Amino acid sequence: CGIVGYIGNEDARDILLKGLSNLEYRGYDSAGIALLNADGVHVFKEKGRIAVLRESVDPAVHATLGIGHTRWATHGQPNKRNAHPHQSASSRFTLVHNGVIENYVQLKAEYLSGVTMKSETDTEVVVQMIEVFANEGLSTEAAFRKTLKLLEGSYAIALVDAEDSDTLYVAKNKSPLLIGLGDGFNVVASDATAMIQKTKRYVELMDEEVVELTRDSYTIMDLDGNEKTRAPYTVSFDAHDTEKGAYAHYMLKEIDEQPAVMRRLLQEYSGKDGVVTLDPTITKAVNAADRIYIIACGTSYHAGLVGKHLLETIAGIPTEVHISSEFSYNMPLLSKKPLFVFISQSGETADSRAVLVKVKKLGHPTLTMTNVEGSTLYREADYKMLLFAGPEIAVASTKAYTAMIAVFAFIAVASAQKKGTKLDLDLVHEMSIAAQGMEQMIDEKALLKEVARDYLSITRNAFYIGRGLDYYVCMEASLKLKEVSYIQAEGFAGGELKHGTIALIEDGTPVFAFATQKNVNNNIRSNVQEVAARGAHTCIISMDGVTNHADDRIVLPNVHPALTPLVCAVPLQLIAYYAALQNECDVDKPRNLAKSVTVE
Ligand code: G6P
Repeated sequence: CGIVGYIGNEDARDILLKGLSNLEYRGYDSAGIALLNADGVHVFKEKGRIAVLRESVDPAVHATLGIGHTRWATHGQPNKRNAHPHQSASSRFTLVHNGVIENYVQLKAEYLSGVTMKSETDTEVVVQMIEVFANEGLSTEAAFRKTLKLLEGSYAIALVDAEDSDTLYVAKNKSPLLIGLGDGFNVVASDATAMIQKTKRYVELMDEEVVELTRDSYTIMDLDGNEKTRAPYTVSFDAHDTEKGAYAHYMLKEIDEQPAVMRRLLQEYSGKDGVVTLDPTITKAVNAADRIYIIACGTSYHAGLVGKHLLETIAGIPTEVHISSEFSYNMPLLSKKPLFVFISQSGETADSRAVLVKVKKLGHPTLTMTNVEGSTLYREADYKMLLFAGPEIAVASTKAYTAMIAVFAFIAVASAQKKGTKLDLDLVHEMSIAAQGMEQMIDEKALLKEVARDYLSITRNAFYIGRGLDYYVCMEASLKLKEVSYIQAEGFAGGELKHGTIALIEDGTPVFAFATQKNVNNNIRSNVQEVAARGAHTCIISMDGVTNHADDRIVLPNVHPALTPLVCAVPLQLIAYYAALQNECDVDKPRNLAKSVTVE
């Protein structure tokens, strides 16, 4: 699910292929490029990895204009036929598309009865309609806009016309797309990492906008053709940040970066005097709320659960956490003065954006916490906070998760400070201790690799149990293990296990217990004994290192009880990583997953 495009004077092929490999991290199952030169349009597409596509591209084809695509199948199987680019009947028009055209069946019936379709995709309808309208005498730009006006759903599109090798057409609605500006060239990309080798200057596009790009100009229009002006911005990272250097995998690199991210956050969100400093309008909005609604998906949802604990225990604000796709269509009764907090690494997740749009319509204040400045959720919320984690490339989220937890701690403390609440937490001090603690756990790679081997090398399933904050950590631990190693795993509240799920415990079933919270320490240890009595292979992860309840232990460094998820994150991530290596899985690009899911 990524798009790239290039118009300039260099060879487009390598630029597009490099751009697509930079987008690989978003997840995909087929890929393709189209190159336009004096001989016409040359399309290459393949099922599978970019490496396969690269092999299939004819090295003799040179072009200075081209478009490329990675596809994560929604309509139609992931095969070569359904891969993008798609072409119109005469092959005059070629385009790539991200998103879903919801009314494609109706459009096909209404406008394309005489056209034989070449694929099963919703996308092909778009390119065929452009040709139909162009054949009626419209210019390409007008035919494109006329088609876009008829579409319902989401799209990011890059289009070329075989009769015009000086223009690249682009359009966006709900799916992410940026224009990148260069000297004598311009590019299109789903995100800035794709084209970061070429340029750091980008222009945001809003929904229902069309752009005509030439080698040295860009013209932004609305769907009626009215021109709009918008200044470019410069992204704050460079190509080096998106490379994995000596690391075997991005996931490992990103796990290792976590202490540095914590230190960066301390710089960003605290002053020299050790006091937490937030944009005062955000603290005000937080303190004006009678209830906070955290909305997120996947790992971000798990960070939200920890966030709820921090907001309630430190700031005393009632907080609910909701899965975006559920909240969107089954909204609970809301309090009188809610504040909505959206957490999203990418800032593009369609499920979360759907909620943002709905609650904005209801007139409620919104705050987005994201890693990507300028992303859709960032732009559209009233208040924003950045995670400062640097580009996260591995599909399975690691450093963004711990950054989200840390940012919640800053929000909670800032809110309490402002209200004059007496705190038993010196956050700046405790967070730097937690960063050191994370480093200590990162140094335990050999041990964690051994744990993965002893517990997870022959099993098909595993359990993580914990209570309170540890339960939330368990949910993330099991998700991480499932995502990258394909081992069926469940994160469970320690006390609830006996009410049914304990039936799954057999001889040798791995059970990891997080036990960092004093108030439930004895309870969780009893839960470990319950499963041990039924044959489970148990391991306790705790700060005190008391062994006598389990087969093994992992000792965590001492950190403030509110910040234990930060240090727990490292072993849970590394255990998943090593289990994935053992199972010979594609660690950075697990099957079926996408990094940024831009469809609901
Ligand atoms: C995808 C990713 C997950 C991620 C979730 C939410 O499903 O595979 O790793 O946690 O989306 O993404 P976001 O960018 O909104 O945090």
